[in-house]
Amino acid sequence: MSIIFNEKESLFSLYTRNSLYQMKADNYGVLLHTYYGKKTEHMDYSYLLCEREHSFAGSPYEAGNERWYSLETLPQEYPSYGAGDFRRSALQICRANGASALELRFAGYEIKEGKYNIPGLPAVYAEEGNQADTLIVTLKDTASDLYVHLYYGVLEDLDVITRAVRVENRSGEEIYLERVMSTCLDFMYGAYDLVTFYGRHEMERLFSRTAVHHGVQSVGSTRGASSHHYNPFVILAEQGAGEKSGECYGISFLYSGDFLAEADHDQVKQTRLVMGIHPDNFHYLLKPGEEFWSPEAAMVYSSQGFEEMTHAYHKAVRNNICRGKFKNARRPVLLNNWEGTYFTFTGEKLLQMASEAADMGVELFVLDDGWFGKRDDDCSGLGDWYVNEKKLGCTLGELSEKINGMGLKFGLWFEPECISEDSDLYKEHPDWAFQVPGKSPMRGRYQLVLDFSREEVRNYIYDQMCKVLDSAHIEYLKWDFNRSICDVYSASLPAARQGEVLHRYVLGLYDILERLNQRYPDMLIEGCSGGGGRFDAGMLYYTPQIWCSDDTDAIERLKIQYGTSFCYPVSTMGAHVSACPNHQTGRITPIGTRATVAMSGTFGYELDPAKISQEEKEEIRGQIENFKKYYELIQHGDYYRLTSPFDNSCYHAWESAATDGSEALVSVVANHTYPNMAQETIKLRGLTPEAYYEMNGKSYLGAALMYAGFPMPKPTVEYESFQFHFVKR
Ligand code: DGJ
Repeated sequence: MSIIFNEKESLFSLYTRNSLYQMKADNYGVLLHTYYGKKTEHMDYSYLLCEREHSFAGSPYEAGNERWYSLETLPQEYPSYGAGDFRRSALQICRANGASALELRFAGYEIKEGKYNIPGLPAVYAEEGNQADTLIVTLKDTASDLYVHLYYGVLEDLDVITRAVRVENRSGEEIYLERVMSTCLDFMYGAYDLVTFYGRHEMERLFSRTAVHHGVQSVGSTRGASSHHYNPFVILAEQGAGEKSGECYGISFLYSGDFLAEADHDQVKQTRLVMGIHPDNFHYLLKPGEEFWSPEAAMVYSSQGFEEMTHAYHKAVRNNICRGKFKNARRPVLLNNWEGTYFTFTGEKLLQMASEAADMGVELFVLDDGWFGKRDDDCSGLGDWYVNEKKLGCTLGELSEKINGMGLKFGLWFEPECISEDSDLYKEHPDWAFQVPGKSPMRGRYQLVLDFSREEVRNYIYDQMCKVLDSAHIEYLKWDFNRSICDVYSASLPAARQGEVLHRYVLGLYDILERLNQRYPDMLIEGCSGGGGRFDAGMLYYTPQIWCSDDTDAIERLKIQYGTSFCYPVSTMGAHVSACPNHQTGRITPIGTRATVAMSGTFGYELDPAKISQEEKEEIRGQIENFKKYYELIQHGDYYRLTSPFDNSCYHAWESAATDGSEALVSVVANHTYPNMAQETIKLRGLTPEAYYEMNGKSYLGAALMYAGFPMPKPTVEYESFQFHFVKR
């Protein structure tokens, strides 16, 4: 059992392979957070708590004259608003009388074998062979029958601890939830950096590292989706921590809507990190007898830098978050027509593209936007999910049959959450789109957003999608979402419940995705939101891969995929080779480099084969063979960031090493070339030090490659890339 409760000390100790997480219900029933860090033998870490008297601090009534005892400075497991702790809280409510002070006290616990689930929300699950246990600690408000159940999933061998919260209103009064964070970590000492991943459309998940300073630092989204702008994954890292050393704590939030991560560094140099649903526009009514589940946060502690943390996340995301037939299966190499044709295509053109794709060894042809309703640009048609047979010149069934006949699978694009005003659906149901009565709606890419908090809206879209999906042999679906949500107002909810709409929307999104997964278990679903605008662990529970970015420029992708790799494995990152000059940046890169970069993703193409030369077609054939050859190693090996694309180095390199050290593939892109370039060497990782490795007929000692490094070749053309395959003798 990975969870131990020491009754005498009222101490909960949660053990994973490398970490220990500890909390203690003290004499007043306050649940204190005593430790999260390197795994040790049993120890009650509350010895670290010292008596400190602080002016202007509030002390709980039960503490009498013990002035030193204040929640203002004690590390807490789940701090509530209004109880003498003036840092950012985890839970804030408003009672029927308007009061918000909430004092939570320990009221019991339960330890169960296995990992808990959350109804309607994604959650890490235990696979056969995983050691997983659940701890539920119950807290109760001193003034009402509001219960807060803290859920901990301890996945020992995965080195992951998950947290979620269930708030239960057993009182007779209506209570509003104003803020429900999924996790809170208090650190009494230490100097930390906050690592976050920021960006924008076509430039997502850029690495950012800033020192935690006095005050509150935060990232989040209020766009209705997790967003391109900040990712719901953050790291609190000991200052000086790097890839291979130093302590760090990752928090991945399994949620695809508004989120907030806050680091609060207080007046006595303590640091608190909270993460959960963004409280802006969150106002959730809990009637007597009702309960609310927060989404889940998955935490990983590493005492050996980012690399160890990344490996734990990659394993957990791949095996314990992604689900279904494709979670471990090789995804077909695809060709998507988007950058090849945009909206301008005919059935004949698609068949010609597919035929050339098949000839090059592509396995799946994806028909992107523009095949339905009246949709020849992005101004109309969304919501009308019926096939434009006039444009295709045939039915979808006929088209897919012809494509299948070429030996290709067939896939299709949808944007189910959106609606164009110029559509039949909008004419019939204008109130199905988010709109505030009396106000003109905000448009985004000319479109509005359907109210997925409403069941009838979801049912309609789901039925329309099923009709299309059943009309042809469709083995892949791309689920896109191309705007931020504004005008949050649901015509189906009363005023008192409008603050629930965005969360209900995300639940609705998950509901329809779950239904699709159940009904089409053999269909691969790729998530997308204008590229990587909803690239989060919540979506990965429903879609095992997500289009990483609308920026397909290989050099820009180095930064995007680097940032993405901190939490998310290669198997989740949609990456394609596209045409040159690149459509987003105008940059010209060798087709080999484009493939090297895309191969560290799900791998595919996004171009018109008619516009490339015979030599390039030949090269593509070779690339696909190469990808298949290295697939196991790339997708299931351990991923190492050997350099950072933000460094001054002329090369950016990464590596996939077999978990048993038997082989490694090092990919390098010369992203800056200069005359008289200095010699650079790159140190490999994950090899067996005492073993010898062969590469291109030469033999190298593993220790030499790891500790002295491997010299980088001089590039002969701009942005040249190299792949080095080392095999243990
Ligand atoms: C945004 C996606 O990221 C693109 O790949 C493409 O599917 C377009 N939408 C289509 O409108």
